[in-house]
Amino acid sequence: MEFSPGAAEPDQQCVQHRELLGEFTEWSAHATPASTGRSVADNCLRLPPPPALNCHGRGAGPVPSVGGRGHGTTWKGCSMSMVENATRNGVGIPEAEKPKEYVFDQTWDRESERLRTNEAIWDPGTIERLERIGVTEGWSALEVGAGSGSITGWLADRVGPRGRVMAVDLETSRLDWLRGTPNVEAVTLDLRHEELPAAAFDVVHARMVVQHLEDRAGAIARLVRAVKPGGVLFLEDTDSLPLFRSAVAEDFLADVKAAGYGLMRRSGHEPRGGHFDLEAVLAQGLEEVSAEGRAVMVHGGSRQARHYMLWLESLRPRLLAEGLLEEARIEEALREMADPGNRWLTQVLISTVGRRPR
Ligand SMILES: C[S@@+](CC[C@H](N)C(=O)[O-])C[C@H]1O[C@@H](n2cnc3c(N)ncnc32)[C@H](O)[C@@H]1O
Repeated sequence: MEFSPGAAEPDQQCVQHRELLGEFTEWSAHATPASTGRSVADNCLRLPPPPALNCHGRGAGPVPSVGGRGHGTTWKGCSMSMVENATRNGVGIPEAEKPKEYVFDQTWDRESERLRTNEAIWDPGTIERLERIGVTEGWSALEVGAGSGSITGWLADRVGPRGRVMAVDLETSRLDWLRGTPNVEAVTLDLRHEELPAAAFDVVHARMVVQHLEDRAGAIARLVRAVKPGGVLFLEDTDSLPLFRSAVAEDFLADVKAAGYGLMRRSGHEPRGGHFDLEAVLAQGLEEVSAEGRAVMVHGGSRQARHYMLWLESLRPRLLAEGLLEEARIEEALREMADPGNRWLTQVLISTVGRRPR
């Protein structure tokens, strides 16, 4: 794609790149991005530096180039750290090598509602299983990827004032309603890289979190380390196969599912995550391991149906930008989901439970 200021919309990488450049305040004359062999995307290098930036040194600035990756412009006089920063942000790295980012936009104004409607679907079954596990007064509990916090709130009530609940998430502002609950601590933490308190919890629960991560086995190993010897790990992730199975039509919303899940998969989401949880838990040597699946029948127009509408709305900008679905088809799918005459099955949520050896 040719990019020049004022031309048609730059692609997303270029937008990211522009943001990246915007962060940069100092350029030095000792390196060019191209010299690293992994330069910022050639296309994006055609962007002008933001006005606040200067290139230093003789001949510094944009240099047209014709190379193995086609025509482009490199920025002579850029510092290495810009390239490192670019790498960290995933700009200019081949798609397959990019670090995967959580697919849902945390800043979307309806993200809280999307999470709350997800809770409406799955909380009854999760609570049933937490009761079966025996969560009780005085326990210490860890809720990972706590989302809007309904399970954190339930755990806090259940373990009472002598117990404690730690709720961790990439984004903890949705747990603000629990501020002031004395036995709840909300911690902002990235399960991909950050360690949890070791051997600290009687129960560790994560629902629909691990399957979003590229290194699922690494994340599960981290969760296991957080469980006290003799404590319980409780993971819930889906098998998406039956989603939208319905009497309405053999292929009810099949194209919408394929498009949405294609996008999610590219962000690291594993549609068979629940199965891999079980494999990882067994590989970790947990004892008394059990796994089972549940699915819920959704009625069009219900609060549960609203979750799938919000799922589609959340992905809409990227589905459109990537030409995966047409606007008219999205609108039609939203009408189908809102129609009380339609019913469909959710994904199967697989609950895997295992005990850490004493
Ligand atoms: C699909 S939502 C599920 C929320 C909640 N567990 C539930 O089932 O209602 C996934 C949650 O995991 C969080 N999350 C995603 N990636 C994460 C990571 N790397 N570390 C910690 N939390 C993460 C998201 O912010 C989001 O709250």
